[in-house]
Amino acid sequence: MDKSNGYEKIASRFIELRGKATDGIGAATVRKWARTLPPGASILDLGCGTGLPITKVLVEEGMRVYAIDASPTLLRAFRQNFPSVPARRESVAESSFFDLQYGAVIAIGLMFLLPPTEQGAMIQKAADHLRTGGKLLFTAPRVKTEWKDVLTGEQSVSLGAERYKTVLSEAGLSLLAEFEDEGGNYYFDAVKE
Ligand SMILES: C[S@@+](CC[C@H](N)C(=O)[O-])C[C@H]1O[C@@H](n2cnc3c(N)ncnc32)[C@H](O)[C@@H]1O
Repeated sequence: MDKSNGYEKIASRFIELRGKATDGIGAATVRKWARTLPPGASILDLGCGTGLPITKVLVEEGMRVYAIDASPTLLRAFRQNFPSVPARRESVAESSFFDLQYGAVIAIGLMFLLPPTEQGAMIQKAADHLRTGGKLLFTAPRVKTEWKDVLTGEQSVSLGAERYKTVLSEAGLSLLAEFEDEGGNYYFDAVKE
């Protein structure tokens, strides 16, 4: 059964569109954020895709990256790109997150693919796997909205900034900042107090 919310079936198209550019949309934004983390921090990349460009930026910034993705094809591409980065083919709901605690968790382009109840569970799980002072960065539209993913045709849902703030707070996380990248993607940057 596909656990990648439709990404496995369009994996080759996704690789063509995003999985080759090393300076793709969001790279500069994630680099700036990564520079707010302690040097050499451990970081879990949820829904890592091929790792280009996001994991590449994190590795270049000296982070110790661990990665999870539910698409077999995208994870295969990831392992070719980053043979020494630990990576598992798992859904975020079923993953043990390597049974580790992290300095940061990042989820770019993933949150809104999940059903609403799973989104709250993922935020809680990320919080549970963060050390005190650790950060969670994820993208989702600022406004509460639903749409069909242009590549997969599957339903996407943003809970909206107000609801995400509440869910973060319930999980013991404080929202530090919100920002947007050159592609119009909206970021929520939170910390575990
Ligand atoms: C829009 S892509 C973003 C990939 C990467 N983060 C990037 O910025 O290029 C979403 C990724 O999430 C993965 N994904 C979707 N649902 C997932 C789930 N429930 N568990 C783990 N990975 C999932 C897909 O396979 C895909 O690689």
